[in-house]
Amino acid sequence: MRPSYLPFIFLSVYLSALCAAKIVERAEELPTQDFDFIVIGGGTAGSVVASRLSEDPSVSVLVLEAGPSNEGIQDSIVPAFFPLLSGSEYDWKYTAHLGAAVNNRSVSLVGGRILGGTSSINGMAYTRGSSDDWNRYASVTGDPGWSWDNVQPYFRKNEHFTQPADKHNITGQFDPTVHSFNGTMSVTLSGFLHQMDALAIESSMTSEEWPFNLDFNGGNTLGISWMQSTILNGERSSAATAYLAPNTVQQRPNLHILVNATVTRILPTNASNEEQLAFDGVEFTQDDGETLQTVKGNKEIVLSAGTVGSVKVLLHSGVGPSDSLTNIGITPLHNLPSVGRNLSEQALLPYGFLVNSTDPTATANPTPIPEMLAEWNNSRSGPLVDGALNSIGFGRLPEDSEIYQRFEDTSAGPNGGHFQISFTNGMTAALFGQPANVTGFIPLMVAPASRGFVGLNSSNPLDSPNVQVNLLSNEFDLFTLRYAIRSIQRFIASQPFQDAKFIVGPLVNVTTDEEIDEFIRENVSGALHVVGTNSMSPKGADWGVVDPDLRLKGAKGVRVVDASVLPYVPSASPQVPVYIVAERASDLIKASWNY
Ligand SMILES: Cc1cc2nc3c(=O)[nH]c(=O)nc-3n(C[C@H](O)[C@H](O)[C@H](O)COP(=O)(O)OP(=O)(O)OC[C@H]3O[C@@H](n4cnc5c(N)ncnc54)[C@H](O)[C@@H]3O)c2cc1C
Ligand SMILES: *[C@@H]1O[C@H](CO)[C@@H](O)[C@H](O)[C@H]1NC(C)=O
Ligand SMILES: *[C@@H]1O[C@H](CO)[C@@H](O)[C@H](O)[C@H]1NC(C)=O
Ligand SMILES: *[C@@H]1O[C@H](CO)[C@@H](O)[C@H](O)[C@H]1NC(C)=O
Ligand SMILES: *[C@@H]1O[C@H](CO)[C@@H](O)[C@H](O)[C@H]1NC(C)=O
Ligand SMILES: *[C@@H]1O[C@H](CO)[C@@H](O)[C@H](O)[C@H]1NC(C)=O
Ligand SMILES: *[C@@H]1O[C@H](CO)[C@@H](O)[C@H](O)[C@H]1NC(C)=O
Ligand SMILES: *[C@@H]1O[C@H](CO)[C@@H](O)[C@H](O)[C@H]1NC(C)=O
Ligand SMILES: *[C@@H]1O[C@H](CO)[C@@H](O)[C@H](O)[C@H]1NC(C)=O
Ligand SMILES: *[C@@H]1O[C@H](CO)[C@@H](O)[C@H](O)[C@H]1NC(C)=O
Ligand SMILES: *[C@@H]1O[C@H](CO)[C@@H](O)[C@H](O)[C@H]1NC(C)=O
Ligand SMILES: *[C@@H]1O[C@H](CO)[C@@H](O)[C@H](O)[C@H]1NC(C)=O
Ligand SMILES: *[C@@H]1O[C@H](CO)[C@@H](O)[C@H](O)[C@H]1NC(C)=O
Repeated sequence: MRPSYLPFIFLSVYLSALCAAKIVERAEELPTQDFDFIVIGGGTAGSVVASRLSEDPSVSVLVLEAGPSNEGIQDSIVPAFFPLLSGSEYDWKYTAHLGAAVNNRSVSLVGGRILGGTSSINGMAYTRGSSDDWNRYASVTGDPGWSWDNVQPYFRKNEHFTQPADKHNITGQFDPTVHSFNGTMSVTLSGFLHQMDALAIESSMTSEEWPFNLDFNGGNTLGISWMQSTILNGERSSAATAYLAPNTVQQRPNLHILVNATVTRILPTNASNEEQLAFDGVEFTQDDGETLQTVKGNKEIVLSAGTVGSVKVLLHSGVGPSDSLTNIGITPLHNLPSVGRNLSEQALLPYGFLVNSTDPTATANPTPIPEMLAEWNNSRSGPLVDGALNSIGFGRLPEDSEIYQRFEDTSAGPNGGHFQISFTNGMTAALFGQPANVTGFIPLMVAPASRGFVGLNSSNPLDSPNVQVNLLSNEFDLFTLRYAIRSIQRFIASQPFQDAKFIVGPLVNVTTDEEIDEFIRENVSGALHVVGTNSMSPKGADWGVVDPDLRLKGAKGVRVVDASVLPYVPSASPQVPVYIVAERASDLIKASWNY
């Protein structure tokens, strides 16, 4: 009998080569409708989970992504072009209502709608947060696995630290002992220096308020540091480019990626003898809801559609506050009042200064951009190799701030900031809507007390959600931002800035509390760092959406793995925490299925 197997083996090898996973655009191109795991959303977290789970060739994984493939999209590849992606076809363009404290303004809530998700369109800042942020995650969830010490292996697994585009000597610009040189996603120092960065770093050498910090990724973020970004050889490194690499990971026969597929609901199993609610179906559409298709995830469904997207999917599936679901005509299936609540967002304030400089990148001058692009295109060098900023600072309110008499400290602890200063060059300032003659210092309030929510206005899964941020609704947050503005004013009064005669003056001159507050209320925006809407909480807690192992509370077959599970926004930008959540989630899932 033996020889008769031979043709069979050849045939199956040939077929599996033919079906070798590549990105497909139509569900008909999938080999089956049954998979072990279905990952909803091929974004930052979803790409990591799909990549890790499909490492075992005996396990089948399907990724359903609403947006298109990331491949070949120039604005996503050229780091400095990232602001052009906001408002583009690769952005969900939801509306965020900022709230009454900021004059009821609304802004566009940018989020990636493309493979790689928001990591394909973001500013590429590589910030892990402070050790206190992680230790707070551990204490709030009751799971020491989320502590700073215990997530270290995941930082290592995620990070591949590389030379900057210009190959300059980086000794003294970062601490190599806290980095990893053989992980998956590439990280680098900036590859094109601006006058602003030299001044910021030089000033930090003598500043008491803003001392130099060799590396903000070593646990303590405070002070001014050289920026680190998710960039490789002058090109964006994203969850898609790093974790779903076309020539390797995408070739796995057991991994399937369907783009242009918008998930509408997750579906409960039909088994009636289950003692607990369980899910195994996923419903999606490729034609704006005209037809609905279903696929099955027999082991688990991993919901990674992001802080807004994952809430939408849960609510439309009947998982959330039952009373408000009933009000809009959705049949409640599982009463979980915390779904969509406790949205935590940072505040970002473009604060522009007129500058006097011969550096063509100090102010926004659109003419050199074609030349810069030609340089980038020819040699991956020049001003376009970097992301949003080349230097960064994190600061705290003083211990004796009068605000502490009325409010609890919002920060996770003394190793992290209440606010961040981003030193942006003129190109980035312009892309943030500042006039062409300014450069920008952008303060971010990174430890917010205010909370918002994501809800629904209708039962149609393709309608936009109702996002209420309530920015600065807590007075602590306004106080912090006011303090941050004054701190910037003190910093640029320092000698190196004065000697350089770089800054001529502020675009808008604000000095009194009233002037500053008016300036903030009129110009502040969300940092687009929303988290918290499917928060982790201790097992058995009467609040929260997922357990510390990211399983949906009170149900089987579903985990949520994305920014929405973080109970607090980290005191930095959130993409690294999202990568770490996804790396650990992958290990937790593998362990529970014994592989
Ligand atoms: C403009 C901008 C700049 C930023 N800059 C930085 C920065 O410099 N550094 C930093 O650390 N953080 C930054 N962030 C934040 C950071 O990128 C995000 O917090 C993080 O990427 C979120 O990851 P996620 O996996 O939760 O969601 P996402 O990466 O957004 O992934 C969600 C995925 O799910 C898909 N999806 C959603 N709904 C559905 C559905 N119904 N069906 C199918 N697919 C669906 C989406 O298309 C997307 O691909 C920035 C964010 C923005 C918007
Ligand atoms: C904001 O809206 C609320 C509720 O609609 C209203 O009470 C308030 O006056 C508005 N505030 C401003 C500044 O317009
Ligand atoms: C880089 O700089 C450091 C310190 O400034 C110096 O010791 C080292 O020799 C330099 N390395 C190279 C390759 O030039
Ligand atoms: C990276 O290097 C470390 C230390 O040398 C090693 O322990 C680890 O296994 C390596 N990781 C990978 C993914 O190669
Ligand atoms: C459950 O059963 C119904 C009818 O019996 C069927 O239409 C539906 O597709 C099934 N759902 C799943 C998730 O298998
Ligand atoms: C993607 O889906 C939209 C409808 O949502 C459809 O119009 C479009 O043709 C699809 N694109 C591809 C490449 O299938
Ligand atoms: C919001 O989070 C806090 C903990 O930070 C928790 O006590 C509270 O119950 C949460 N609210 C909801 C509605 O989930
Ligand atoms: C601009 O800078 C130049 C040289 O650095 C200096 O001579 C000049 O006085 C500055 N102008 C202003 C308005 O500060
Ligand atoms: C980039 O380089 C390619 C050839 O390598 C050329 O065809 C293309 O026109 C260049 N684009 C720009 C914008 O310079
Ligand atoms: C800077 O630009 C703004 C907006 O274009 C303009 O109103 C202002 O006069 C300019 N200031 C200087 C000093 O050129
Ligand atoms: C949802 O309803 C709220 C409050 O009624 C409204 O402010 C918001 O604009 C609506 N959002 C959408 C997307 O329809
Ligand atoms: C800003 O305003 C204050 C007081 O209103 C004034 O003393 C100061 O000179 C102004 N600064 C600039 C740069 O115009
Ligand atoms: C910011 O707010 C002030 C009010 O203080 C307003 O005059 C100004 O136009 C706003 N815009 C910018 C870009 O500063």
